[in-house]
Amino acid sequence: DEDGYDLWLRYLPLAQTRLKDVEDCVRAFVFGAENPTLTVARDELERAFFAMLVKCVPVREGGGISDGAVLVGTPDSLPVIADLDLSLPELGKEGYRVRSLIHEGKRVTAIAANTDIGVLYGCFAFLRHIQTGGDPARIDISSAPKVELRLLNHWDNLDGSVERGYAGFSIWDWWTLPDYVNRRYIDYARANASIGINGTVLNNVNAAPEILTEAYLAKAARLADIFRPYGLKVFLSVNFASPSALGETATSDPADPAVQAWWKDKASEVYRWIPDFGGFLVKANSEGQPGPGDYDRSHADGANMLADALAPHGGILIWRAFVYASDAGTDRATEALNEFKPLDGTFRNNVLLQVKNGPIDFQPREPFSPIFGQITKTPLVMEFQITKEYLGQATHLAYLGPVFEEVLKFDTHARGPGSTVSEIVKGKTFPHPVTGIAAVANIGTDRDWTGGTFNQANWYVFGRMAWDPDETAAAIAEDWVKMTFTCEPGFVSTVVEMMMRSPETLVNYMMPFGLHHQVATGHHYGPGPWVSELDRPEWNPTYYNRADKDGIGFNRLADGSNAIAQYSPEVQALFADPHALDERYLLWFHHVSWDFPLSSGKTLWQGLAERYDAGVAETARMIDIWDQQRAHVDGQRFAQIRTFLEIQHREAQWWRDACLAYFSAVAQRPLPEGHKQPA
Ligand code: GCU
Repeated sequence: DEDGYDLWLRYLPLAQTRLKDVEDCVRAFVFGAENPTLTVARDELERAFFAMLVKCVPVREGGGISDGAVLVGTPDSLPVIADLDLSLPELGKEGYRVRSLIHEGKRVTAIAANTDIGVLYGCFAFLRHIQTGGDPARIDISSAPKVELRLLNHWDNLDGSVERGYAGFSIWDWWTLPDYVNRRYIDYARANASIGINGTVLNNVNAAPEILTEAYLAKAARLADIFRPYGLKVFLSVNFASPSALGETATSDPADPAVQAWWKDKASEVYRWIPDFGGFLVKANSEGQPGPGDYDRSHADGANMLADALAPHGGILIWRAFVYASDAGTDRATEALNEFKPLDGTFRNNVLLQVKNGPIDFQPREPFSPIFGQITKTPLVMEFQITKEYLGQATHLAYLGPVFEEVLKFDTHARGPGSTVSEIVKGKTFPHPVTGIAAVANIGTDRDWTGGTFNQANWYVFGRMAWDPDETAAAIAEDWVKMTFTCEPGFVSTVVEMMMRSPETLVNYMMPFGLHHQVATGHHYGPGPWVSELDRPEWNPTYYNRADKDGIGFNRLADGSNAIAQYSPEVQALFADPHALDERYLLWFHHVSWDFPLSSGKTLWQGLAERYDAGVAETARMIDIWDQQRAHVDGQRFAQIRTFLEIQHREAQWWRDACLAYFSAVAQRPLPEGHKQPA
């Protein structure tokens, strides 16, 4: 497979030097009872070892245990599991333990869990161990997810297009569903299960009311049936005005009994189709979407009505906090917290609030959203974006692991030191009955699913960090590189290093020093720092850069928008002093003069140019690094990545030249030395 379809589940034939060791440990799979999840687990092991060992490994149902047996199951499905020293109870309902043991004098490997889905996750952990070069005879891995709901959000429309999708069309073929099962649905579920993703929102948050009609529920139900053995639950985005938009009620006012009754019936209908349906995701009163505000009701009134309809079925309601629509004078960064803070504590207990990682909108760099730490009585779902809307879309190499990690590790100090965003998402800082983490998917009909091999890493790292938000981006990148390309150590370390540097490189050539939203209008691809004429003030890049003759940056201190006051005093102290803060956030919080002295001794104007140059230089370096890897990568993927790096390098120059030319014009200063005014 040179087209990337197999993602990280490539199962390449093992090197001759490892073959014997692995064969000795994998002579037979022992399964007990059968059910759909254990069947897919068995299929995965058989397929993987057939490919890696280039021979069939027999499958036995119970019976005598011999050397090299791999015992796969729960204490219920395979009773011998109960006799082994595995400490299963502490692993909960999705955790697993994979362990090499001596049992009755035989060398065996156990892949064990309390539930079948835990067993499936354990099989993928075992496979990863083998794929990444682990010792097959000495394994002891136990793991349980730290976050309960680990969700992909597809921004897929019913016409097959994908909002902010850069990998082709939607993989849901609504026309041939529910009858035809495209093999992709199964491979999608396998990929997700392999990284622990356990829920998927099928459709765009800008939701078409039709998703709730019988025809679409039948299609969604078929997908849910396909995904069920893989532990992947289906959720749907719903349009708040669905009942009236579908012509079934006169209004969608949440206080109207007919509207409440409609949603109750609709929820029951959904659960008739999909008995283990996850719940609804709602974007309301945001960017033109309808919502309770249209009827002078609050977000809580709207969310609670839907939550009440779902509650009898055990469903949850995820309400998005992505709102910004008040008067022109308000800093957009402050709006979500201002709107939701007064409502904290008034939501039903099956409501979760889904919050983007930063206060604006998935920018290459943002500080964490102050909702983390300030909203304490409502469970918060972290929303990341895997699709690189603002990070060069399909072609630019930007590994998002470090971006996710930076946010998760940030200490909010909400309940003293150690109240990191990660601790909040895990429900440790403020305990809640349910925890969640979500990300906007980058998946489409492209042969490689994600419009470029390195984009696969972003799907991968999200799943791994959703399972364990404390894992490091570097460790996850290493696994991904080994599984996606090769375990050759020099290649692995070089490529991991390149990936780890990549988001900072992109920040440097696009939006250094905490600049944000400098993108061109609409498509968000390429630079547009000069754009100032859009309808809503907060859509204009000039609103964010505030560049003029005297200086640049957004003053978010007390004498500016005072957005900084939404953070704890400890966090404020980190950002308040422009001479002392981490300069990567300088222009997010401060408006400074072009001559502002940086820690390097340079002026801001010089430093800005330096950052842009450094970003461009690094994109050139990436091409050189990649060229040295030719021997390790198949021709097709090598060439595609090579071409994408060239595009990135060319566009990094475009970003630098366009931004510096604009800033030089408004600053009324010549370009710093060594820069030519572009033609
Ligand atoms: C961004 C994106 C939109 C999307 C919105 C959202 O603004 O550009 O396409 O609808 O986020 O998250 O709802």
